[in-house]
Amino acid sequence: MAITPSSLNQSISEIELLSCPICYEPLSRKGPPGLIMQSICRSSFKCKKCYKSYSTKHNYLDLTVTAGMKKYVEVKSVGTELFRRWFMSFIYEKGYRQFFKRYGFPGPDEEFKMAQNYFKPAEDGVIVDVSCGSGLFAMRFAKSGTYSGVVALDFSENMLLQCYDYIKRDPVPLATDLVLLRADVSRLPFASCSVDAIHAGAALHCWPSPSNAIAEITRVLRSGGIFVGTTFLRSSLSRTFWIFKPLNERVLPSGNYSTEEEIEDLCTSCGLINYSSKIEKSFIIFSAQKP
Ligand SMILES: C[S@@+](CC[C@H](N)C(=O)[O-])C[C@H]1O[C@@H](n2cnc3c(N)ncnc32)[C@H](O)[C@@H]1O
Repeated sequence: MAITPSSLNQSISEIELLSCPICYEPLSRKGPPGLIMQSICRSSFKCKKCYKSYSTKHNYLDLTVTAGMKKYVEVKSVGTELFRRWFMSFIYEKGYRQFFKRYGFPGPDEEFKMAQNYFKPAEDGVIVDVSCGSGLFAMRFAKSGTYSGVVALDFSENMLLQCYDYIKRDPVPLATDLVLLRADVSRLPFASCSVDAIHAGAALHCWPSPSNAIAEITRVLRSGGIFVGTTFLRSSLSRTFWIFKPLNERVLPSGNYSTEEEIEDLCTSCGLINYSSKIEKSFIIFSAQKP
C-alpha cells in the first residue's frame, strides 16, 4: 500500500496535530483554525483530559509541561540551558554556527539540500524542525513550498524570539506559514502518528536524553514518516583507544556525543527502519523511517 502524507487526506486545518505534553490528548482550541501562526496566536488551547491551558507568548505557543507554572523553576542540562541565553540566540547565526564548518558541517545551504533529498517521500506533508534554534532550516523549509505545514520547535524562548525577528526582517516571503512552538524534545506536543517529517539539525548532542528524544520522534511520526538529523560524532580516537575515552569526555563535557554505531542503534532500537548516513570529519547526517 502506498503511504501518503497526512495532508493529502485531510486539509491542514482539520488535522488535530497539537496535543497536551502531559497526557498526549488532543487540545481543544478556541479561535480561528489552521496551522497558521496568526490564527494560533489568536487562539487559546486546553487539554481535553487534564484541562491544562496553553497560550501564546510573544508569537510562540508554549507547549512545555512547565507552561503557566508560577513558582516551580526547572534547570535543564547544559546543552539545553546554554541556548536559552539571549546572547547565544543573538550570536548563533552571526558567528557560532559558522564555526561548525571546521568539524565537517558543509553549511546550512548544503545541509538543507541533503535533508530535502531524504525528505522526498514526505513532500506535501507537515514537517517539524525540532530544536530549530533561530530558524535557519525551518525558514528554508517554509520558503521551499515543499510542505503543507512547517513547525519550528525549540525549548529556548530566546531562540524562538530570534527566529520570529528573522522572519519579520526577511525580504523573501515564506511559501508556507511557519508556526513557532516552545516544547521539550523529550515530551513532544503532537498526537501519535501525526507528523510526516522531522528534522533536527545539530541537535542530538544538545538533548538531555537522546534516547527519550528519538523514542518521542518515533511516536509522533506517521507510518512512512522520515526523520533526518545532523550532529557531531564523538571522536574516533575514543572509539579506537580506550585510554582516550575519559579525555574525550572531559574535553566535551556539555554534550551527549555519540558514535555512528550508537546513533544507528538509537534509531533502530526505537523501531525506526531504513537507516542511512553520510559522514564528513565529525559531521554526520542520518535518516531513518517509521515503519
Ligand atoms: C546547536 S543548536 C541547533 C540549531 C539549529 N537546528 C541548527 O542546525 O543550527 C541546538 C538547539 O537545540 C535546542 N535544544 C536543546 N535542548 C532541547 C530540548 N530539550 N528540547 C528542544 N530543543 C532543545 C537548543 O535550544 C538549540 O536551539
